[in-house]
Amino acid sequence: MRESRQARDWDELAELDPLWAVLSEPAFTHGGGRVDEFFTTGAGEVSGALDVARELGRPERFGRALDFGCGVGRLSRALAARFEECVGVDISPRMLEAARQLNEDVANVEFVLNSRADLSAFETGSFDLVYSSIVLQHLQSQAEIERFISEFVRLISGGGLAVFQVPSAISLRYRLQPRRRVYGVLRTVGVGSATLYRRGLNPIQVRALSERRVVELVEEAGGQVERAVPDDSVPPLTSNRYFVTRAAGPRSTSSV
Ligand SMILES: C[S@@+](CC[C@H](N)C(=O)[O-])C[C@H]1O[C@@H](n2cnc3c(N)ncnc32)[C@H](O)[C@@H]1O
Repeated sequence: MRESRQARDWDELAELDPLWAVLSEPAFTHGGGRVDEFFTTGAGEVSGALDVARELGRPERFGRALDFGCGVGRLSRALAARFEECVGVDISPRMLEAARQLNEDVANVEFVLNSRADLSAFETGSFDLVYSSIVLQHLQSQAEIERFISEFVRLISGGGLAVFQVPSAISLRYRLQPRRRVYGVLRTVGVGSATLYRRGLNPIQVRALSERRVVELVEEAGGQVERAVPDDSVPPLTSNRYFVTRAAGPRSTSSV
């Protein structure tokens, strides 16, 4: 188990401004925006992804869905409406608390803490849909992004699908991320997260992984990229949403 700075940062964001931390649109800043409108964005995104999935004939069953980096359950809620059950996984206990509260009316969703650098808590081939959006770009390192992409492929059931978004490139201006750097320094010397956030500083970091590397990783893990659809849900970033299937038969049996 890791008690990481990453978990601390997301916990603090969950406390300060949970909807904005999850979906950084001006409408949801500083407690703004309506919760139903916020969830409507998740329903729209999932609906669009499942339209593409339908063209691929996947998933064959709508049994179990995984929402990796679920935050407050914006997408888990939408997935639960389309699947028999949805498991939302996150590194931040406070995000998960908020997710449980905001989705207490949804019976077939479960929110689970995962502090590991992998998804070994879940069995190989145990999800008809593995979904992740606006998460991989915020992981601690390129190695961690690569590890989770391999894990997504491992978890896909026969006839299942993984759909995940990750930026393929970041402009130099964005890569410098001065607000995050100043936040990190001031937080280390003891300045409170609320004070920093009020001054427009936050700890959110952004990384990218090239399309070529994603394809390579997926294939190494025994999967295939069926589609890489350009995605504009995180406006300044050039992102793709990848639709990935797994070759029949598990290649690995690592599970807990
Ligand atoms: C920008 S939010 C997106 C939430 C959700 N996917 C959505 O689009 O509504 C990123 C989420 O990823 C979570 N996260 C960051 N690193 C993680 C990790 N290593 N494992 C699981 N979740 C993580 C954060 O706690 C946060 O809830």
